[in-house]
Amino acid sequence: MVPIRRVLAAVAVTYAVLSAGERVTRPGYELRAWWYGDADARTCVPGRVGCRCAADDRCAGTCRRGLCFGARYPVPDAYLYRDDAQHDVERIHALVLAALDLTPGLRVADLGAGPGWLTVPIAQRLGPDGRVWATDLDDHALARLRAHLDDARTRRPLAPVEIRRVTAPRDTGLDDLAPASLDRVLMINVFGFGPDRPRAETVSFLARVCRLVRPGGRVLYHQDWLRRPEGEYPVDAMRAIFRDAGCGRTRERPMPAHMPPWSWALPDGIAAPAHPMERGYLLEVTR
Ligand SMILES: C[S@@+](CC[C@H](N)C(=O)[O-])C[C@H]1O[C@@H](n2cnc3c(N)ncnc32)[C@H](O)[C@@H]1O
Repeated sequence: MVPIRRVLAAVAVTYAVLSAGERVTRPGYELRAWWYGDADARTCVPGRVGCRCAADDRCAGTCRRGLCFGARYPVPDAYLYRDDAQHDVERIHALVLAALDLTPGLRVADLGAGPGWLTVPIAQRLGPDGRVWATDLDDHALARLRAHLDDARTRRPLAPVEIRRVTAPRDTGLDDLAPASLDRVLMINVFGFGPDRPRAETVSFLARVCRLVRPGGRVLYHQDWLRRPEGEYPVDAMRAIFRDAGCGRTRERPMPAHMPPWSWALPDGIAAPAHPMERGYLLEVTR
């Protein structure tokens, strides 16, 4: 008979070995998974370190929750590997998808789609009669979006997705579409829609976007963090811009519990943000 203490010790050692694989073994390696990182459930083995991400040879990160994380910014492990940070992103994505109230056949535009964290689940919900337009300024993001769509399509049918590269920060990429031809528009965490351009340009941009949305259709605008004072519009300023653009009724949807502020101790060589980040918001605009 094996003594219970030896069994418990063996369990503890096994647990420590397995969970070590979940810890960061490349200090200073980046993360930002939900923006620039990549996810490839096929090559990522949860709990192991050193997974490979598809379609990006720069990426050789860690595996968390079946997703492969790697990338550009050295962000403190203590923050980005916290479970609550990743949970928070997942909750916000779930909230955005619920607010979109998608049904098969809808026509949806994802402006500033990035690598397609939302484009893919949207295309999955719309069925073959739906349609998605995804725009971005950045070729690298669009290449990742294409790779994610190709990968997702091997597992489940997707609505057709038309990818459009915009050429300027206030180019909708969709000006050729007929008025009222869209049911939903998303603008999620696209910092480039903030006050980096004159307000009048943003009003005119949103007026062109909103004209594309049919009466009763919706625009969702979300920023998870506001880099103030110069970074993004606070919620009241953004509501006023949507009003001036003639977009329709705005309402703020409550956000889930949010990521902690950027209060971690930054490792050597990484500058602290000049201004503390403020919690963001989710605006729903009904035409
Ligand atoms: C933080 S990512 C968000 C991606 C996606 N919307 C999401 O929530 O997962 C921001 C993306 O917006 C793009 N972007 C920034 N400014 C833009 C603009 N003015 N027009 C279109 N895309 C823009 C960037 O290239 C980047 O891929």
